[in-house]
Amino acid sequence: MQINKMIQIAPSILSADFTKLGEQIEAVETGGAEILHFDVMDGRFVPNITVGLPVLRSVRKKTRLKIDCHLMIVEPSRYAVEFVKAGADMVSVHVEADPHLHRTLMAIKQAGAQAGIAVNPATSLSILEEALPFADFVLLMSVNPGFGGQRFIPSSIEKLRRLKQMIVEKGLRARIEIDGGITKQNIARVVEAGAEIIVAGSAIFDDNKNPSEATKELILAASEWV
Ligand code: DX5
Ligand code: ZN
Repeated sequence: MQINKMIQIAPSILSADFTKLGEQIEAVETGGAEILHFDVMDGRFVPNITVGLPVLRSVRKKTRLKIDCHLMIVEPSRYAVEFVKAGADMVSVHVEADPHLHRTLMAIKQAGAQAGIAVNPATSLSILEEALPFADFVLLMSVNPGFGGQRFIPSSIEKLRRLKQMIVEKGLRARIEIDGGITKQNIARVVEAGAEIIVAGSAIFDDNKNPSEATKELILAASEWV
């Protein structure tokens, strides 16, 4: 059965080969990706350190894909607008890291990007109640943030459904992005449960994979119920 909604694949460069990042970005674009997921980690909010503003500026020059910055950092309000200025089209901040979410989301929008709220697996959706109307999207983590290649947490499906229901009941337009452990085997299930933007890192960039073909395969698998 075909799914009648807009599904976008967002390859996460966290699992890419950084010595040939430009080529790998071109490959996923050829494969049909529309968004590039850019994971920013500070070694404090999560136990890993990745890339930041200088890398984003270089990537921005290289691609026309939308760039989606997932800020896994403490005090994201200090940097969110800098990421927009450096070329991000979408920026998400973790609800667990920001006591002034309204202000940060507004600042991201005012700077010209879409503003998202990221939510860890053990964080209740009830905390989104008041903030949801101000978000363009919600990034639901289906693994604990910090590393690529982890296993999808099965209860995320049910959480996705509840989030979708909250959004619909409130008459809002926020889109749902799912991040972590997505494979050809489970992508149709997350789409069916309400996800519209699907992040995939290791399923696209692992060593034995052709990123362009892997992107195409995920897009195809997303359109089929399993
Ligand atoms: C994890 C990152 C993810 C990660 C996903 O903390 O936020 O975006 O790159 O990688 P996979 O698809 O391998 O789980
Ligand atoms: Zn991410």
